[in-house]
Amino acid sequence: MAYELPKLSYGYDALEPHIDARTMEIHHTKHHQAYSTKVNDARAGSALADSDIGAVISDLNAVADAQRGAVRNNGGGHANHSLFWTIMAPGGSGAPSGDLAAAIDSDLGGFDKFQAAFSNAAATRFGSGWAWLVVQNGKLAVGSTANQDNPLMGESVAGICGTPILGLDVWEHAYYLNYQNRRPDYVAAFFNVINWDEVASRFAAAKG
Ligand SMILES: [Fe+2]
Repeated sequence: MAYELPKLSYGYDALEPHIDARTMEIHHTKHHQAYSTKVNDARAGSALADSDIGAVISDLNAVADAQRGAVRNNGGGHANHSLFWTIMAPGGSGAPSGDLAAAIDSDLGGFDKFQAAFSNAAATRFGSGWAWLVVQNGKLAVGSTANQDNPLMGESVAGICGTPILGLDVWEHAYYLNYQNRRPDYVAAFFNVINWDEVASRFAAAKG
């Protein structure tokens, strides 16, 4: 079964003014679509298991040499964007609560320190990549990856391991139309549209 572009649960203009409609539409219908198409092309006629994309990128060594690069880049792109759309919502959903808030306090020193660390990870990722909040061995951690790498790929590939529960795309295609070179402004705006209910549910699943 081919990977498909997921539908968004909100309109392209729903995250305005923080993320503009034109950026959202191009990002979803062009950029994400291209990653989905290319990972499907890479899998075509191969022995790649018909697996969940998260499982595939968690075990890149199982992918044939000839396809590994394409699966890393485009499978990563498909997985990353599929997560990204779900962890945003119009108007956001306030602040973390419950177990997630408690873990942010105990593992990361509180929400303000988490926000500073996450924003710094996003701002200092040179070139294209992603900032992440992950669950590592039951604890929260913040980091970033280059290109379309995902923490599921493991530390030796991505430089950080764990199960991502929040990710921020810092490729210029994610913000350039509205923010140009002002990546920190985009990162600050992102905090207004985080769907903390979804992040909490991913946290609960990752903790098991
Ligand atoms: Fe993107």
